[in-house]
Amino acid sequence: MDIPKRGESGGSDFAGKSVVVTGAAAGMGKQIAAGFLRQGASVVAVDINEQALNGLKEGLAPELADRCVCYAGDIAEQSVNEGMIARAIEENGRLDILVNNAGTAGHSEPITETTNDDWNRILAVNLNGPMYAVREAVARMLEQEGGGSIVTIASVAGIKGCRSSVAYSVAKHGLVGLCQHTAYAYMHQGIRSNIICPGAVRTGMTSDPGLESPFGRARIMSGMDPDLVFGDASDIADAVLFLAGEHAKFINGAVLVVDGGMSCN
Ligand SMILES: NC(=O)c1ccc[n+]([C@@H]2O[C@H](COP(=O)([O-])OP(=O)(O)OC[C@H]3O[C@@H](n4cnc5c(N)ncnc54)[C@H](O)[C@@H]3O)[C@@H](O)[C@H]2O)c1
Repeated sequence: MDIPKRGESGGSDFAGKSVVVTGAAAGMGKQIAAGFLRQGASVVAVDINEQALNGLKEGLAPELADRCVCYAGDIAEQSVNEGMIARAIEENGRLDILVNNAGTAGHSEPITETTNDDWNRILAVNLNGPMYAVREAVARMLEQEGGGSIVTIASVAGIKGCRSSVAYSVAKHGLVGLCQHTAYAYMHQGIRSNIICPGAVRTGMTSDPGLESPFGRARIMSGMDPDLVFGDASDIADAVLFLAGEHAKFINGAVLVVDGGMSCN
């Protein structure tokens, strides 16, 4: 019997599925959206950067672009979260998968250097936004046959207290609680909610000059070989597609660390 190689599973694991991906214009979100589209899903791609979002669609092969709807907005806003889910249902009749990926890093400040504005913005984008999205997604999934699957991108900063700004770490820890609570609360209704905690991944976020601050890159990378501890956005997308799909049907409330081993010290 021929065993399909990785990536050759027929390419249609998500055929007919209705997916929402936030932060889809760049980095991990772009790979996640493209991964679902390549495997047959219809995707509502959400991002605050409308120009980059249009670039995503223009860069897709026509048969994929036809199944990709762009939805521009700031996920800190409740109305954007509710609007993106309503759009997926309007387009595809249901919502099968929500990926909470969009996030903002801040500038790696410890608490004595954290302003109220920084705190409020990071919590608004990284925690309040996903809360609005999960609340709306669960409500809609409960109304449909078959439930649904939610995958949320937290961070190793969501399970450890260091190597990021305090606001970022608090928000990412909060996401773990949000998603595990949701997993447990709706386990009998066919709704799964899992969390991915990436380590260092090569994206726009990690090339942000703000990470060069004294509490930034030097501290994050101290004692580590960047060639070994940086993953690619596609490494995270692979994990998202696995957790979202049928192969993970008995995985619920899991916190999957995807960091090449960085946090094992
Ligand atoms: N890159 C890393 O090393 C790393 C590590 C751990 C966790 N993460 C998390 O992974 C997720 C994706 O990060 P990335 O590295 O791909 O970042 P990125 O900066 O490359 O891309 C993030 C995307 O989200 C969009 N976005 C940002 N704020 C938004 C908002 N308020 N509303 C809508 N869209 C918004 C951006 O425009 C961008 O397109 C984030 O939640 C981040 O916290 C990243």
